Amino acid sequence: MDKALFISIEGCDGSGKTTALNAVYQRLVSQGYDVVRSREPGGSAIAEQIRRVILDPANTAEDVRTEALLYAASRRQHLIEVVLPALKAGHTVLCDRFIDSSLAYQGFARGIGIDAVMQVNQFAIEGRMPDRTIYFDIDPAVGLRRLAGRSALDRLDQEKLAFHQKVHQGYAQIIAADPGRFIIIDAAPAPAAVAQAAYQAIAGLLEHHV
Ligand code: TMP
Repeated sequence: MDKALFISIEGCDGSGKTTALNAVYQRLVSQGYDVVRSREPGGSAIAEQIRRVILDPANTAEDVRTEALLYAASRRQHLIEVVLPALKAGHTVLCDRFIDSSLAYQGFARGIGIDAVMQVNQFAIEGRMPDRTIYFDIDPAVGLRRLAGRSALDRLDQEKLAFHQKVHQGYAQIIAADPGRFIIIDAAPAPAAVAQAAYQAIAGLLEHHV
């Protein structure tokens, strides 16, 4: 078991998690915390190439199981190249999305099944679950309104409200099955307040971790 913490960041599209994570990361680094920030899908050269295939709006024919396998492949590559070496070197890893995204989006919202997607992902992660997960909770309708202000929407952002509502339900099921791993942040307030709540949660984990 690594001594360093592996923390994943999860939430529906438009939850503001990436903006909050950037602010938290800068603050932690400026305070001398030894943290590495990364993201999925992507986070390494090969995994970023897989990301482009998955999210290209032109890939309308992409089968849902192909999509699940590509996310798992991207996850594997990023885990091996970035996450595990960083943990081994003693850095805390803050990862913007990890396995719960696949369980909520592909397993629940796409209808493949959470257990089936978990199996595929176990092949990819060989049991390396995040130690803790920060979940940014947002009403999907609010999330989508936030996304509407963005210029480039990827293939999943372009899904309709019903899909994002299913993703939200999927997350609720996953959290209910493993409540001790999750810290839930209310992502509805203004960005600065959400970032402050996320900072308190993550700094709290780091302070109590020996
Ligand atoms: P991002 O917008 O947080 O960069 O994530 C890109 C999209 O990919 C987002 O809509 C969530 C989706 N996604 C999945 O569907 N399954 C996954 O396993 C991951 C990591 C992301």
